[in-house]
Amino acid sequence: MTDIQRVGVIGGGLMGAGIAEVNARAGLDVIVSEVSDDAADAARDRIHGSLDRGAKKGKLSEDDRDAAKAHLRFTTALDDLADRDLVVEAVAENAELKASIFGELDRVVQSRQAILASNTSSIPIAKLAAATDRPQQVLGVHFFNPVPVMKLVELVPSLVTSEETVTRARTFAAEKLGKETIRAQDRAGFVVNALLVPYLLSGVRMYESGFASAEDIDQGMVLGCAHPMGPLTLADLVGLDTLKSIADSMYDEYKEPLYAAPPLLQRMVDAGLMGKKSGHGFYDYR
Ligand code: 3HC
Repeated sequence: MTDIQRVGVIGGGLMGAGIAEVNARAGLDVIVSEVSDDAADAARDRIHGSLDRGAKKGKLSEDDRDAAKAHLRFTTALDDLADRDLVVEAVAENAELKASIFGELDRVVQSRQAILASNTSSIPIAKLAAATDRPQQVLGVHFFNPVPVMKLVELVPSLVTSEETVTRARTFAAEKLGKETIRAQDRAGFVVNALLVPYLLSGVRMYESGFASAEDIDQGMVLGCAHPMGPLTLADLVGLDTLKSIADSMYDEYKEPLYAAPPLLQRMVDAGLMGKKSGHGFYDYR
C-alpha cells in the first residue's frame, strides 16, 4: 500500500488541473500552487467545473464531488507545500522555469522521503534532478489529456533516480489513481510523444501544404484507423503552444527533421491560436 497521502500540484492549467482532480477524487489531500490569485481562481474554476460536469453526467455522486472539492486547496505560496509526500510539477514546458521550481521545492519540501515529480513530456528529468540535493527522489510522472479519462502514466527515472522512488510512484499511480504505468528512459518525448508528436506534425504539414482539408485529414484517421480523434483535433486538444514546445525540445535533442515544428504551427502560436483552450486552433470552438 502506498504511503503517499499529501499531494502538491504546481500549475493548475490543462494538465495540472486534471492531475489535481484525479488525486482529489482518490481521497488525497491536494494543494494546487499557482503564480497569482487570478491563476489560482482559474484553476479552481477549471477543476470544480470538471467535477460538476462529472456529477451531472452521473460519473460520480454529488457526495463524492463535494468530498473531492473539500480535498482541494489552492495557494500562491510554494512554502505551503512543505508537508507534502509527493509534488507533481505541471507548469509550461520551459526547462529553466521547471529547474528553478525544483530548486525551490528542494528547499521547501521537508520530508526527505517526499517524491518530487514532473509532468514534463520532453525536458530531461536529469536537469530537474540536478537542481535539487535529492536527485534520487526526482522522476518524471507523465499524465495524458484528459487526465481523468486517459489510463496511462509514463514513469521516467533519470540516471540517478532510485529504484525505490520508481516503485513508490508506480504503486501510487496504480493503487491510488487507478492508472496503468509504463516505464521510459529519460529521452525527450519518452515513449508516447516520441511516436505521437511526429504524427501530429505530419498532420499539420499535410494541412499546411494544402494536400487536404483539416476535416478530411481528421476524418481519414478517425474512420480509416479508428482513432478517437484526428491529428488536428488532437493537436487542438493538446494545445498548439504545448505541441510546439514539445516539438522544439525533441528537435533539440535528436536534430531530426521529423521533430521540426512546421512554420504554420509557429505562426498559429504567434497569433494566439492555441487550440481548444484559447477557443481557436485548427478549428473554431467559440
Ligand atoms: N474530463 C473528464 N471526462 C472527460 C473529459 C474531461 N476533460 N473529456 C471527455 N471525458 C469523458 C466523457 O465524459 C465521456 O465519458 P462517458 O463515455 O463515460 O460518457 C468520455 O470521456 C468520452 O467523451 P465524449 O463522449 O465527450 O467525447 P469522445 O467520445 O469524443 O471522447 C476523448 C473524448 C476522451 C477526449 C477522446 O476523443 C479521446 O480519447 N481522444 C484522444 C485523446 C488523446 O489522445 N490524448 C492524449 C494526448 S497526448 C498527451 O496528453 C501528452 C501530452 O504530453 C501532450
